[in-house]
Amino acid sequence: MRNGAMAEARVVSLYIGRMKDVEIDGRAERTAFVRTPATTPIQLGPTGIEGNEFGTGRRLGTPNHAIYLLNAEHYDYYENILGRAIAPGSFAENVTYQGPDETVLRMGDQLRIGTAVVELTLPRIPCYKMAHFFNADAGFPSLFSLSGRTGIYARVIKPGAIAPDDKIEIIRTDPVNALISELNVVLTGPSPSPDMVERVKASPALFDALRQQIDERMEMLGIDAEPQATTVRIADIRQESRDVVSVAFSMPAGTAQPPKPGQFITFGITDNNGAQHFRCYSLIEAPFANQNDDDSEIWHIAVRKQANQNGAFSVSSWIHENLKPGDLCAVYPPAGEFVLPDRLQGPVAFIAGGIGITPILAQIAALARQGYSAPVTLIYVAPDDESLPFLDALHLAAAKLPKFDLRIHLTRVKSLPDKAKPNWKLGHPDFVRDIAALGETDHVFICGPAGMIDAVRTIHTTLGRLTGYIHFELFANDGLTTSALTGIDSAQITIRSTGFSGTWNAEDGSLLNWIEARTDIRPNAACRSGMCRTCRADLIRGEVAYPPTVSPPPASSILLCCAHPASDLEIALPSSGR
Ligand code: FES
Repeated sequence: MRNGAMAEARVVSLYIGRMKDVEIDGRAERTAFVRTPATTPIQLGPTGIEGNEFGTGRRLGTPNHAIYLLNAEHYDYYENILGRAIAPGSFAENVTYQGPDETVLRMGDQLRIGTAVVELTLPRIPCYKMAHFFNADAGFPSLFSLSGRTGIYARVIKPGAIAPDDKIEIIRTDPVNALISELNVVLTGPSPSPDMVERVKASPALFDALRQQIDERMEMLGIDAEPQATTVRIADIRQESRDVVSVAFSMPAGTAQPPKPGQFITFGITDNNGAQHFRCYSLIEAPFANQNDDDSEIWHIAVRKQANQNGAFSVSSWIHENLKPGDLCAVYPPAGEFVLPDRLQGPVAFIAGGIGITPILAQIAALARQGYSAPVTLIYVAPDDESLPFLDALHLAAAKLPKFDLRIHLTRVKSLPDKAKPNWKLGHPDFVRDIAALGETDHVFICGPAGMIDAVRTIHTTLGRLTGYIHFELFANDGLTTSALTGIDSAQITIRSTGFSGTWNAEDGSLLNWIEARTDIRPNAACRSGMCRTCRADLIRGEVAYPPTVSPPPASSILLCCAHPASDLEIALPSSGR
């Protein structure tokens, strides 16, 4: 099964905790670790299952641990690891279920199970008792966390009865909340990336005690949620298609987390006047060793030339016209959640529009490296055959994928070029047909123009598919109107230190748009869509709202590119650079 099929999501079995006296490593302990099959149905009250007993010492409080759910497929994984059968209920779970797992479910997701409704809070963080009860070595609890197959705690939203075979439905989910698997990495992983920490901390479902626990852990690990830039040297620049170049740069080894296929970096150049400008670019492929320098790796990005809009500086145009091998640039660490999920299995569909092929090429190449055997489909849409960068690299990767289906659509030509193959078509794809043809738990990855992403997302939602199975990246504002976000038509904005004050109106859109239209100030804004954080400014006074796809920063900050005033504001811009 692939990350758990929602159509079959149901309760498999139920267990109740009963306190028992045991001896662990020579110490007498009382614990409810060993579960008893429940007399069904169980009754879930406001704070937990009636008759379910807990051990002591839970730091985060019982309501957030009211019920513990474990995916039944995890038994197979751990039986393989331990080389023996594991008795049902051995993980001290209350509910063993069949359905989506930690890589699809999010913090704050609400599930209807039987007549009860629960809200997912956090992954299980195991203690030393787990090794004892599994008769495993002391490293077993760490392995449990590292595997990500942790099970999920939940709080009670609506008390009710739960019985075996009861259907499980996700009745509320918010894509801004981090995945349970991401929260697990932040709570237990050896070196969670600052980007992931920030995403988890920006999740509206994160409760205070857990936020404090994360802060303490990050301090202990010395992980700064504010990423630092690395100076890199340009190694090579190549024309890949009519308006796309690839830029290779040498990154000192070990200075940044290895990128996950599909992530982007924030790239900074210094213009001829000494001013720094930033923009986000997806990485094309996995870094590889620099043949000329043992201590660095070669990383690649793709840059499409874009016209300067409204006289604004265009980093992409500057790169096309000025950048040359040997130049020094600034690179912030890889970021973004447009990545292949852990434990990806089964058919996968990719949809790329133009330069949107860049992160998707990295993902397809990663699947090729692991010899992915399930069907992989790529629908690649471009205006004409001179706007199809990286076709050769795609064919190279495809040769290692036994079930690769490449479909190319040219949308702005009247006839196909001579070099066209049978899989080339004229006109736009029929996304309704293409998405409907996918299985309901097939993962879909889409990167391209906003209109294309919106269309595919709408079709996916209309077909009743879960948001956990569609992944998209959009380097642009999502087009939500300000009045829909904040309900106000105007606000007074003061920019501290510049002394500038003026009226913002709903048609101005984001604060970034307003600042660029009304002042000479040009804040750094690399992605203009809430992902890179280069446009972060301080919020001194007032309130702002964000589109639902954006993870808000901490309350004392704002992301200028996406923040819409919800009241009069006073803000302070960073003095320089990022
Ligand atoms: S410009 Fe990237 S978050 Fe605002």
